Amino acid sequence: MNIILDCDPGHDDAIALLLLGSNKKFNVLGITTTAGNQTIEKTTINALNVINYLNLGYKVYMGANKPLKRDAVICDAIHGESGLDGFIFPKHNLKPENMSAKDFMVKAIKESKEKVVVVTTGPMTNLALAILEDKNIVSNIEKIVLMGGSIGAGNVTPAAEFNINCDAEAADICFRCGAPIYMVGLDVTRKVLVTEDIINRMKKINNNASKMFTDLMITFNINQKKVFNLDGGPLHDPVTIASLINPNLVHFEYVNTEIDIISSSSYGRTNCDIPNYLKKEKNSYVATKIDVDLFFDIIEEALRYYNF
Ligand code: RIB
Ligand code: CA
Repeated sequence: MNIILDCDPGHDDAIALLLLGSNKKFNVLGITTTAGNQTIEKTTINALNVINYLNLGYKVYMGANKPLKRDAVICDAIHGESGLDGFIFPKHNLKPENMSAKDFMVKAIKESKEKVVVVTTGPMTNLALAILEDKNIVSNIEKIVLMGGSIGAGNVTPAAEFNINCDAEAADICFRCGAPIYMVGLDVTRKVLVTEDIINRMKKINNNASKMFTDLMITFNINQKKVFNLDGGPLHDPVTIASLINPNLVHFEYVNTEIDIISSSSYGRTNCDIPNYLKKEKNSYVATKIDVDLFFDIIEEALRYYNF
């Protein structure tokens, strides 16, 4: 499976990268970074740190420093000043490639001999810019798997989830582009909480990957408790990759989803018409159920892969 991961590391993005590197089914064409959890400079540094530490060998292409229309926001309350607080990564000389994320996406997707799976775990700005640059790439996208949105309540406003709220215009372009959309929203990601039991379970693996996981998750949890009063941070982003590793993990329903780019208080809401009230054309597979035990088995298996 030819795949591109577009991300804004971010604690949960880092674990999505770790999952990606643990499974040989993925032929990773490249990693693109976007502003979101932190500035584009910091999310890019964080991606390079994880890639170096886990010896993944992926090329990184730096992307958008701000959404298409809105001003840039960050989520330092959860991810900290660095965007990946809690673990000290070893120094290295890795640098992002000279090509932009948008240009890389267009080139890689056009040149791929098989259709490409594009996974986004941050604001969808880079993918939207690539589609705006060359709409023809859509015919060579197998599917877009995004962490974002919510059938129910949001997590930055009552209506909207962070990634979509950051750049609703970009999400709208992606949802309307014609490529199959798989939306992994808060409805399932809020069920995979990294509780103390999970941290203790993964700590027992006692290798470099589990050390990174547990150290990052301890900080992630402290911040999730402060902000959301949660007894364990939701591992949002890795659910995208895990659902590609094991298709039995997540149940999707095929529905019409519209992104609210107009209203003020509901800006960035994903209106998923699960009951099909409006009888509009269906355009998205929306995650409604997840096997929590299976998810953490996938995480544990991935951590054990890195026995270096
Ligand atoms: O709402 C959760 C999403 O916002 C995750 O992708 C997290 O990394 C943040 O970017
Ligand atoms: Ca993210």
